[in-house]
Amino acid sequence: MAPLLAPSLLAADYGNLQAAVEGLADSAADWLHYDVMDGRFVPNISFGPGVLQAVHRHARQPFDVHLMIEEPQNYLAAFRDAGAASITVHYEACPHLHRVVQQIKHLGCRAGVALNPHTPVGLLEDIAADLDVVLVMSVNPGFGGQTFIPNTLRKVAALKELLIDCGSSALIEVDGGVTLDNAGALVEAGANVLVAGSFVFNSAEGPVATLANMRTQLSASIDAAEQEIG
Ligand code: DX5
Ligand code: ZN
Repeated sequence: MAPLLAPSLLAADYGNLQAAVEGLADSAADWLHYDVMDGRFVPNISFGPGVLQAVHRHARQPFDVHLMIEEPQNYLAAFRDAGAASITVHYEACPHLHRVVQQIKHLGCRAGVALNPHTPVGLLEDIAADLDVVLVMSVNPGFGGQTFIPNTLRKVAALKELLIDCGSSALIEVDGGVTLDNAGALVEAGANVLVAGSFVFNSAEGPVATLANMRTQLSASIDAAEQEIG
């Protein structure tokens, strides 16, 4: 199946986020990825629910909110009210992860858990069946524009196996340093959602053309793989 594409607004022009999301309305973007950073869980600060509410009004795609914050349980309702369709919290930020996941679902959002690069996928074994999304960080969270960590491919493949073993239908999302150089291999390993910030927004041809190119190239490589399988 072709992956969902989720451009990250972290790499958009903050001076005109309305234009950024309106510009993506008819693009190949499936979700809009919204990176929240608190300066505590990660060494950077981005934007919160107020900005989401303002920009959500102008967007056509659902918002995929990635909380890189401590004590995310205190902000779930605020992000849901601001327009989040899915909310992802970090495994490393939640000593009571099961409770937080249930809270997200109770609010009517898709529930996701993100893993930092050093966090093993096996730690999700007892909660995998409760999740809608597992987000695999392919860089250390906190900044856009970093280099993809190659071990992510192995990790995505291991996660796919774990989800099958646990009877979980969670989507595998990959976030950080995603470009057309690694997207094909990620999909082959089992990724269902690709987040891309710099590659989409800083490209010479612009976000719409870059997303269209990603969609075309990934669909072509999937067709080729399916033909090979017969
Ligand atoms: C990193 C964020 C990512 C980031 C991706 O902490 O979670 O979503 O914006 O940006 P690129 O694609 O530039 O690595
Ligand atoms: Zn993110």
